Amino acid sequence: MVQRLELRQPRCFTWVMDNLAASILDHLWKDYLKTTPQAAEVHALFKARGETVVNDHIALRTFNRPSVSVDRLAEPFLTSGYVPSGEYRFQQKKLFAKSYSHPTLPRVFISELLLEQFPDSVQRICQALVDNLSTWAPEQLLTQQPTWAPVTLETYQELLGHSEYAAWLAAFGIRANHFTVQANALTTFEDIAAINTFLMGEGYELNGAPPHIQGTPEQGLVQSSTKASWIEWPFANDVTHKIRSCYYEFAKRYPVHGSQTPYDGFIADSADQIFESTNVTQ
Ligand code: NI
Repeated sequence: MVQRLELRQPRCFTWVMDNLAASILDHLWKDYLKTTPQAAEVHALFKARGETVVNDHIALRTFNRPSVSVDRLAEPFLTSGYVPSGEYRFQQKKLFAKSYSHPTLPRVFISELLLEQFPDSVQRICQALVDNLSTWAPEQLLTQQPTWAPVTLETYQELLGHSEYAAWLAAFGIRANHFTVQANALTTFEDIAAINTFLMGEGYELNGAPPHIQGTPEQGLVQSSTKASWIEWPFANDVTHKIRSCYYEFAKRYPVHGSQTPYDGFIADSADQIFESTNVTQ
């Protein structure tokens, strides 16, 4: 059975509260809705069409420091029955990622920024954030937002000059960068293109160039995403500034290589494009 995310019925989660990963995902979903108002709106639009929204995967961002690395954040998921399903490298964005699958819970995609590939100034800023953490327990890192004290707007903008990912992570900390609607579970949309047409009709901005689609059925995974929400975000010294927060993603999976079941992993090229959804310069 698949996890169904209900916005107004948190009681639905009581059956899984003994499962660490499920409770982390529940927490991340509630936190995500606070920074991503459009996700609740889109979720409601789908429900109004009679759809039950099933979550395909979530994505987490972190730094490649031992205390907060992909492997560290994966621990509570692995102890809850998740298994590794793939590894991915993004050379231009200087990222490494792993994905994890579970028989009944959404997939988890965790990427980490390869800090040693950045100038000393970037490494120093990001290392200081990690050094000042109050906890290094992975389940707490995943459920205690904000992860670190607000950075200054100047720090955010300096990081932005080197890596949009670093700036986003410094501002928002470790939290879900996106949740993803599983298009296979929708009954009123034939494919991702139909979802895109619907979303644009509702006034949502989609990531990338038309037709706003990454991947092909032959690759096993077709995806699209909204542009991240603009929100007023608190920085240090009582400064607020409007930046892009998180986005909502849509994924349809297809069987590959004669398999009977849909493809379970991710496509690095598509994910590379989708990372642009939080690009503040667009
Ligand atoms: Ni994704």
